[in-house]
Amino acid sequence: MYELCPESPNDTPEVEALLDLCFAPGRTALSSYRLRDGVPAVGALCLVLRDGSGVLLGAIRYWPVRVGGKPVLLLGPVAVHPTTQGEGLGGLLMRESLGRAKELGWERAMLVGDLPYYRRFGFAKLDDVEMPPPTNPDRVLGYELVEGAWDGITGPVMRESGADVAAGLAEIRRDPPQSQLCTEMEPVGAQDATSQS
Ligand SMILES: CC(C)(COP(=O)(O)OP(=O)(O)OC[C@H]1O[C@@H](n2cnc3c(N)ncnc32)[C@H](O)[C@@H]1OP(=O)(O)O)[C@@H](O)C(=O)NCCC(=O)NCCS
Repeated sequence: MYELCPESPNDTPEVEALLDLCFAPGRTALSSYRLRDGVPAVGALCLVLRDGSGVLLGAIRYWPVRVGGKPVLLLGPVAVHPTTQGEGLGGLLMRESLGRAKELGWERAMLVGDLPYYRRFGFAKLDDVEMPPPTNPDRVLGYELVEGAWDGITGPVMRESGADVAAGLAEIRRDPPQSQLCTEMEPVGAQDATSQS
């Protein structure tokens, strides 16, 4: 049995240690981190996955950004502990968080990553969306939570700041539905949620 919960301040040191383990040193020098500096994460979508003994197995985080004046979810980082990679847990974190994002009213998400991994979830290259340099444009990928949500949206990815953060988040529903709190899940392969707390 797994438990999937929104990340709490108590989880954060463990999540940071997991990210340090899974990513190369200097991960916070990546351009996507400049879009996150000083901006609150989207708390309801930052999830931690633990096994039945409470061991942290994986985590995913999201930040709000803007492209062409529209609110966009910036997905990442997502990480699964090296000892449990390849067991479907990354897929579970991706699908569950994107489902929750849709329920919350978000219309589009993006990330910087490997298309061969993320295309299985429905991500595709965004041709006219520019991440701050240095970013390989082939790794700038988008996902539509609502059909057509990326149509006509182009330009640089902008950091949400100050009043913009409040404005961006006010454009979507604020309170997570009951289904977005902790969820117990069967091991991957029998993934249906069985109970919520
Ligand atoms: C990427 C990551 C989150 C995937 O989690 P996971 O639990 O191992 O993924 P899943 O078990 O759901 O999927 C495994 C599949 O994805 C593939 N895969 C994993 N990373 C991949 C990549 N970078 N490119 C292409 N395919 C990849 C595996 O080969 C495997 O393929 P298969 O289904 O054909 O066997 C995990 O490997 C990880 O933490 N990696 C280090 C950190 C990282 O690179 N994060 C992503 C960038 S933000």
